[in-house]
Amino acid sequence: MPSASTERERWNQKYGESPGAWLEPDPFLARAFSEYIQPLFPHGGSALDLAGGAGRHSIWLAKQGWDVTLIDLSETGVELARQNAGPLAAHIHFVIDDLTQFRASQTQFDLVMGFFYLERKIFPEIVKALRPGGLLLYKTYTTDQLKLPGGPKDASHLLAPGELLRLVGGMRVLHDREVVAEKATAEIVATKHE
Ligand SMILES: C[S@@+](CC[C@H](N)C(=O)[O-])C[C@H]1O[C@@H](n2cnc3c(N)ncnc32)[C@H](O)[C@@H]1O
Repeated sequence: MPSASTERERWNQKYGESPGAWLEPDPFLARAFSEYIQPLFPHGGSALDLAGGAGRHSIWLAKQGWDVTLIDLSETGVELARQNAGPLAAHIHFVIDDLTQFRASQTQFDLVMGFFYLERKIFPEIVKALRPGGLLLYKTYTTDQLKLPGGPKDASHLLAPGELLRLVGGMRVLHDREVVAEKATAEIVATKHE
């Protein structure tokens, strides 16, 4: 497992080299928004974007009227997120922090989302960070990515088949899908019991 400072350096370098590569939100967010988020929270709410990087998902959600907290280890990524957000930055709270040590605070969120980041041990804290009735949206690579070009090749960053479902055990699962296409991913929408 690489250390937090190695990961920070690696991501600072990536964001520094290709600042424009992380602008389009993953389509899962817009789909989940119309199917699950909007019906449950028609007037918006508060969201936490775990490892939000250059901000593509936080910014998209802020555009829909949500207040978002973005946490990421990479200062370069977070600075890009701030720039990319423009005036929407007023609705995003930017936090530079190491999520391997993530602890839920007293502030709970209506929505927690995680895209393409995996730290298995913090799932209990992620659930604690959600308000009862709140939604968790999660999507990241699976081990099938090893057969495809690109993406992480380190098993610590790849979900085993069915693993995401196990990680959210105790939540009510509304949507669960594993796909091998251009990327191999697992995605989930789950709600915390009231
Ligand atoms: C593949 S990128 C995904 C970024 C964003 N979620 C997205 O989909 O655009 C992985 C992100 O995880 C962040 N990251 C890696 N290790 C981290 C850690 N220990 N704590 C917080 N963020 C971390 C990186 O800085 C990077 O922004």
